[in-house]
Amino acid sequence: MSTILVMYHSQSGNTRLMAQAVAAGVESVENAAVNLKPAAETGLEDLRSCDGMAIGSPEYFGYMAGMIKDFFDRTYEAAIQNPKTFRKPYVLFISAGNDGRNCRDQIERILTGFRFKKVFEPVISRGPVEQEILDQCLELGQTIAAGCDLGIY
Ligand SMILES: Cc1cc2nc3c(=O)[nH]c(=O)nc-3n(C[C@H](O)[C@H](O)[C@H](O)COP(=O)(O)O)c2cc1C
Repeated sequence: MSTILVMYHSQSGNTRLMAQAVAAGVESVENAAVNLKPAAETGLEDLRSCDGMAIGSPEYFGYMAGMIKDFFDRTYEAAIQNPKTFRKPYVLFISAGNDGRNCRDQIERILTGFRFKKVFEPVISRGPVEQEILDQCLELGQTIAAGCDLGIY
């Protein structure tokens, strides 16, 4: 059984919708379980107990949400000292008003420090979250869950 941690932050609900679609994608894969959590409630134990991770952030002021950064700040020192908390496969989903690229770039940069491995291109939503984006998020969840289950990452 593979466990996928779907960690997100959302103030007005857009990133939460995307996170729920990613989680539904994970759950649609046999032998996969989802741990869906707001970043503020996510800690080192969640990182240790997952096989892969999906991270969702809104773009705020051209950057990731503070709560996503806070999770990285809180866990980095311990994470890099434990082989069970780094080198995880990950996927990314972002909700933005009209951009999202710097949020993506900065998260990817931090995850290089965690030695995480990107296994699929990020989904970036611009404006209200459309059905097409939710479909892509579902696929994102299926992809990371199926890949972890097969052990291909
Ligand atoms: C404080 C704040 C800053 C924002 N800064 C940006 C930004 O720099 N670039 C952008 O494209 N959208 C920006 N937005 C728009 C949000 O990224 C967008 O509304 C997003 O869908 C919010 O996600 P949420 O509903 O999960 O909180 C900003 C919104 C807020 C509230």
